[in-house]
Amino acid sequence: MNNSIQMDQLTLGVCYYPEHWPEELWEDDFRRMRDMNISVIRMAEFSWAMLEPVEGTFEFQFFNKVMDLAHKYGIKVILGTPTATPPAWLTHKYPEVLNANAEGVLYRHGMRRHYNYSSPKYRELCTRIVTNMVQAYKDHPALIGWQIDNELNCEINVFYAEADHIAFREWLKERYGSLDSLNKAWGTVFWSQTYSDWEQVFLTRPTTADSPNPHLALDEKRFISANAISFAKVQSDIIRAFAPRHWITHNGTFGHLDSHELTDKHLDFFSYDSYPQFSTISPSTEDHPLLDRAWSMNLSNTRSISPNFCVMEQQSGPGGWVNRIDMGTPRPGQIRLWSYQSVLHGTDLLVYFRWRTATFGTEMYWHGINDYHNQPNRRVREVAQVGEEFSKVGSLIAGTVYQAEIAIMQDYDNTWDGELDKWHGPLQWQSVRSWYKQLQYKHIPADLITLRAENLLEDLLKYKVIVYPHAAIMTDETAALLTEYVEAGGKLILGARTGYKDPNGHCYMRPFPGPVAELCGITIEDFTLIKGIIAPAELSWKGKGVLSPGTAAVGFNEVISVVSKDVEVMAEYASEYYSGKPALTRRAVGQGEVWYYGAAFNEPVVDAVIEEIQLKSPVDEWLTAPAEVEAGIRALNGASYLFLLNYSNKPAQLEFKKTAADLLTGDRLEGTFDMPPYGVLIIDTSAVG
Ligand code: GAL
Repeated sequence: MNNSIQMDQLTLGVCYYPEHWPEELWEDDFRRMRDMNISVIRMAEFSWAMLEPVEGTFEFQFFNKVMDLAHKYGIKVILGTPTATPPAWLTHKYPEVLNANAEGVLYRHGMRRHYNYSSPKYRELCTRIVTNMVQAYKDHPALIGWQIDNELNCEINVFYAEADHIAFREWLKERYGSLDSLNKAWGTVFWSQTYSDWEQVFLTRPTTADSPNPHLALDEKRFISANAISFAKVQSDIIRAFAPRHWITHNGTFGHLDSHELTDKHLDFFSYDSYPQFSTISPSTEDHPLLDRAWSMNLSNTRSISPNFCVMEQQSGPGGWVNRIDMGTPRPGQIRLWSYQSVLHGTDLLVYFRWRTATFGTEMYWHGINDYHNQPNRRVREVAQVGEEFSKVGSLIAGTVYQAEIAIMQDYDNTWDGELDKWHGPLQWQSVRSWYKQLQYKHIPADLITLRAENLLEDLLKYKVIVYPHAAIMTDETAALLTEYVEAGGKLILGARTGYKDPNGHCYMRPFPGPVAELCGITIEDFTLIKGIIAPAELSWKGKGVLSPGTAAVGFNEVISVVSKDVEVMAEYASEYYSGKPALTRRAVGQGEVWYYGAAFNEPVVDAVIEEIQLKSPVDEWLTAPAEVEAGIRALNGASYLFLLNYSNKPAQLEFKKTAADLLTGDRLEGTFDMPPYGVLIIDTSAVG
């Protein structure tokens, strides 16, 4: 089933909170949802205090009534388990379920996600509410699936309650077997950190200079992820046992959680909460042209978990909390644009957040489709338009999948290690962002994939090109897989700091880039971090391509020493004491080739490499579009749909060299065509002629 949601057509849903509204509104709400082609609601994910108002006393009537009414209107229901918001009676009576900060201060009642995953009491109480809830609702005809908890690791993704320290010790015993091997793995001989009893071992606690043992810090993140997954398992086991015909999902993605593993083991598919405007609230100038479009990268990441997925929350108005997150309103057309952004990247079930803006509470400025006054507004009209369009094209598009020949690759260990480690962490974002952005602007569809222990050669061979920019932690097994990929015809692109650490995060005693030095045919003879007064060296391009003059090698400068005769130097440093030395190399190996860049990628370097390896947009031959338009294709079994999305507030001029048609409007597209601001086009490419 490849972890995908199975939908026959693109389907619209909405998050609904009947507990926020008088009962008299419900029926009118459902009637209007149907008018807008909304046929799914998600609800109950924060309702524990209603479902179990008193410890051990359950009340399921309320949501039964709502579901009955929804069913009358042909509306299907997704229920969220309510474990993200433990009731006041619970945390008051059992404070051991609360999460704590690193100082051990408990997070108290009044927000959400203030519990920990480790407390046996919390797991027991979650088991009881979820079991009762599933048994109460499992036979309701409107119910189609379950969302476990809500956004695991959102709001906070570190856990330092007493129960967490205990669970961490158990996890370490399992992983290392003995204190002796734990001491080795964490290098505790350094600074006399050696543990002589398990009771001395804790998750990171306040330290001088705020500098925990780096190997412990990495294991802490692995533990948090494993712990969240085992917390989710408790719930998915219950749902599987009592409601086997329903699907199970979870909405993410957040830090310190291996969402791929969570999905593989315990879900039917993954869901994502898409709020593109988050990337616009405090834009840095370098991000400016990308803004809400940067969200496509998050959606690409989600697609690597589930090729077809659900957006469980799609932004449908300005977002805002009372004391933080303050956003301007989406411009006319933007909600629709963002909806199709989600669809392009693999969404088949799109659930808006939320039906109506709450009139009270922390999120009373987080606007839904309807305003407080509940009168028609432009957001309602815009969503209704999407509903109408989904009913027109939804059965064609559902089940088709995004097409990409190039992947940007990352992995959890390096992401987590790089959070603390300033010597490689920041390079990752610099390079991934530059690659994703330049590929986007050139209309070259790209995937963002995660390398995992279970990946096989065939997973990599789906791509002609893989950019794996700064895998500091790398094993010989990974290097062997990458070598096979290149030998079989893949183009692999690596960057600075590759392969200098083992899985514990210790530095190898071997020349950089460690396990892939042989594959690349190089070693690194000297290096420097680029920071403050240490300026980046300029580059001089040696290949056929063109590099903008004055382009610097940012982030880190590694001076490459060529070992194999067949290595081609593609760029040299052109300033600093290592001027004239190789900065970027390329080596043909087997059917493929490997590139090594001694720095982090910035836009001009990405452009030059793309030119050198002749990556092209799949629509280049018949369509010219400006950079502000995103282009991507969803296809399956010969059917193929090109999406064009204009993120700009100005018209975008397209040039068609062939004749095409827009599936949404039926408009004929030929010659020059002005896409309106925030416009969307979907073209059946098999009908282009
Ligand atoms: C999501 C969350 C929703 C709502 C929304 C707007 O992260 O799942 O419950 O809070 O953000 O803030």
